[in-house]
Amino acid sequence: MKEPSAESLDSESPTSLVVFANNGTLHGLSHIFTYGPVTLRRCLWTLIFLGSFSLLLLVFMERVSYYFSYPHVTKLDEVAARNLTFPAITLCNLNEFRFSKVTRNDMYHMGELLSLLNDRYELANPAMADPEVLAVLRDKTNFKNFKAKPFNMMDFYNRTGHDIQEMLLDCEFRGIRCSAFNFSTIFTRYGKCYTFNSGKEGHEILTTLKGGTGNGLELMLDIQQDEYLPVWGETDETSFEAGIKVQIHSQDEPPFIDQLGFGVAPGFQTFVSCQQQQLMYLPPPWGDCRSSTMDSEFFSIYSITACRIDCETRYLVENCNCRMVHMPGNANVCTPEQQKECADPALDFLIEQDNNYCVCDTPCNMVRYGKELSMVKIPSKASAKYLARKFNKTEQYIAENVLVLDIFFEALNYETIEQKKAYEVAGLLGDIGGQMGLFIGASILTILEIFDYLYEVFRDKVLGFRDKKRPKRSHSDNLSTCDTLRSHSESLGFTPNMLPCHPTLGNFEEFAC
Ligand SMILES: *[C@@H]1O[C@H](CO)[C@@H](O)[C@H](O)[C@H]1NC(C)=O
Ligand SMILES: *[C@@H]1O[C@H](CO)[C@@H](O)[C@H](O)[C@H]1NC(C)=O
Ligand SMILES: *[C@@H]1O[C@H](CO)[C@@H](O)[C@H](O)[C@H]1NC(C)=O
Ligand SMILES: *[C@@H]1O[C@H](CO)[C@@H](O)[C@H](O)[C@H]1NC(C)=O
Ligand SMILES: *[C@@H]1O[C@H](CO)[C@@H](O)[C@H](O)[C@H]1NC(C)=O
Repeated sequence: MKEPSAESLDSESPTSLVVFANNGTLHGLSHIFTYGPVTLRRCLWTLIFLGSFSLLLLVFMERVSYYFSYPHVTKLDEVAARNLTFPAITLCNLNEFRFSKVTRNDMYHMGELLSLLNDRYELANPAMADPEVLAVLRDKTNFKNFKAKPFNMMDFYNRTGHDIQEMLLDCEFRGIRCSAFNFSTIFTRYGKCYTFNSGKEGHEILTTLKGGTGNGLELMLDIQQDEYLPVWGETDETSFEAGIKVQIHSQDEPPFIDQLGFGVAPGFQTFVSCQQQQLMYLPPPWGDCRSSTMDSEFFSIYSITACRIDCETRYLVENCNCRMVHMPGNANVCTPEQQKECADPALDFLIEQDNNYCVCDTPCNMVRYGKELSMVKIPSKASAKYLARKFNKTEQYIAENVLVLDIFFEALNYETIEQKKAYEVAGLLGDIGGQMGLFIGASILTILEIFDYLYEVFRDKVLGFRDKKRPKRSHSDNLSTCDTLRSHSESLGFTPNMLPCHPTLGNFEEFAC
């Protein structure tokens, strides 16, 4: 760089591009705006500078648009734990109503919904029943001189649902005996169900300190097939299957067992080995999760199932003016007619895939239990007699009704699956800074210099502040921008003719090459 004499610099306006280029930190500019004639070298410098600058702009745009696509990455980790909270385990008998508990009044109101009666209060399909069952049915549906009493669905479900005390033959948690009192009652679409380790008041949340079968829950259940209601048709309240449905869920989440439960068959011992998974998703715009607060009158903690139950309840109350037994809230419980005509079809409609009702976002934090199931036959031929004697039942009854369920953690660790922001502001700034340095050798301070220079120019040319501040330069007051430029060029040794002068172009004339 040619050092201009102190005199010539002093006489130069601080708004001159040449002065700026030579004093600034922006590389390249000083080679373009030199004190001297326009040479091939200067032209090349200009081209290279403009090329680098365009590349910088391209990279800059690419980085900024990448930032605004809000990318994320998913991190998988395995965390060892000292102890793990044992999940809540909800189980339902696939049969909703015990035959022996259904009274004549119940049959009068519910018979049609259960497709046992036709619309004239007569047995719908007597040919389908065994003689003993038919005799009982005929008795329960003998409405001669019968005066219907008030009927309450809630009470019907509560009274006729299977009782955990009768179903539970044996219960052990971590080798310690448990009983029906360790289960809390909950109503689901399968009627009366029971949750072990629900964390509800009076039930302390259990933890486990080791993996393996011996440190989990072992249940022996009698599904009481003798109590199953005769099924003469397809309804939402009856099922063709025998066994129980089980859902393993966290205490914060209500069960949604008809959709998310797995089945356990009688005649088998089923081993369920669980692994806890902690999922952490990102809220928009990075991901699509929902934070854990919930604007529901029924649930305080957001979960997909809470959201769906909440939505289904509101839909039924709006469309049928009633709620089903398993739904929260204070609305009236549906009558059998309302349930048959409105609530059951509405709920089936909501569960169908192709409608947009009750689509719930994933919560940002959730616990899931990965499961592996395996089963063996129970009772074995060798143990059938022993078990029959132990429970005072026939061997055939044991084979048809008894099941054993083992639920335990595979190991005392859990998996975390975490979405992380892949590109944050710091990364964006770092990239932009790096590219600016690489392409034009600029930093934040260089940008400030440019702004400072533009401000000076603005102040000089538009506001005319220079008059007051630098009275000794008043000789150029009368000159147009272009004249000023020409005078500058002259003082630097430019031949003015080389720069065809257009007053409007002002200082930028100096770029012309
Ligand atoms: C389980 O671990 C937590 C801390 O990680 C501890 O506070 C708690 O007491 C432990 N529970 C048992 C039963 O050891
Ligand atoms: C179910 O019945 C039991 C007694 O038989 C009663 O204590 C309980 O409150 C009833 N539950 C509901 C929801 O009605
Ligand atoms: C079952 O309940 C009893 C009484 O409420 C309690 O003492 C016991 O610790 C509970 N057992 C388990 C495994 O929760
Ligand atoms: C076994 O069951 C029968 C009826 O099923 C009953 O009469 C008998 O008393 C029971 N025996 C015992 C020891 O519980
Ligand atoms: C500026 O113009 C005024 C008249 O417009 C003139 O009197 C004055 O001498 C000029 N100044 C210079 C420095 O040319």
